[in-house]
Amino acid sequence: MDELDKWDIAGRVAVITGAGSGIGRASAEHLSAAGATVVLADINEEAASETLGIVHDTGGVGLVVRTDVSDASSVEALFSTTQDVYGGLDIVHNNAGLVSGYPVWPDITPETLMRVMNVNLGGVVLGTRLAIPALRKRGGGVIINTASMAAIFPLVEDPIYSATKAAVVMFTRACAPLAEENIRVNVVLPGLVDTPLLPKTGDGSNWAQWANDANDLMGLLSADDVAWAVVELIEDKSAFAQERIVGVALDGSDS
Ligand SMILES: NC(=O)c1ccc[n+]([C@@H]2O[C@H](COP(=O)([O-])OP(=O)(O)OC[C@H]3O[C@@H](n4cnc5c(N)ncnc54)[C@H](O)[C@@H]3O)[C@@H](O)[C@H]2O)c1
Repeated sequence: MDELDKWDIAGRVAVITGAGSGIGRASAEHLSAAGATVVLADINEEAASETLGIVHDTGGVGLVVRTDVSDASSVEALFSTTQDVYGGLDIVHNNAGLVSGYPVWPDITPETLMRVMNVNLGGVVLGTRLAIPALRKRGGGVIINTASMAAIFPLVEDPIYSATKAAVVMFTRACAPLAEENIRVNVVLPGLVDTPLLPKTGDGSNWAQWANDANDLMGLLSADDVAWAVVELIEDKSAFAQERIVGVALDGSDS
């Protein structure tokens, strides 16, 4: 990328949801390393505090805000705390997400089904809508949503997960006009990533069969692979409403 086309992350304020684990933690580490102040939002405060420890150990700056991304008042509090403490907001990574686990579809409970929809889709929509006033105040900013390759390939054992991720992709596309206000909304679609989410696809200890099958087919990415793609999309001034598949090609090389 030409330096002129590069949006500088240094000095920005970034909110990352699901920052206590996996992809969110890696995103926080990479954004912090690039010079951003990181606001670590997670329903698991202890886990987010561990991430903050890593950020501090590497000379970064940030704080933890316990947040349930499916709850509008909690997300409002996240952005108002960010505004109060750091004076503004430039980047949001709407990343928190869940898989349904057992019992698999169609025996999933209605409670789990609603939870997955409210976190995976509701959290992204709220995290985008409620960030806009703060981003406007700075003259724009960047939102990255985390979808999945399950948005493209139907997960027959977890159709709710697939449906929410497909919806996140379409939501991102439909946010294209926000670029007229310099708010660029993009989405990453990772393949299978080595994070604590994988055992949750199954009984909590063992992966679901579909995750094993996906591993045989596509291999396993690291959370850092996804974080690199997130940073690239943030830095690329020309990227809006863009979908970035993060995968391992069948020949083993990253795509
Ligand atoms: N791991 C994969 O193979 C994979 C592949 C593609 C996409 N993804 C997506 O990447 C994102 C991150 O997944 P991960 O693999 O890092 O999972 P993870 O389980 O390691 O981390 C998810 C984090 O989100 C937090 N969280 C859950 N519900 C929340 C809520 N309501 N509010 C705030 N925080 C909440 C959890 O506490 C956890 O810290 C998810 O959206 C997931 O769907 C993961």
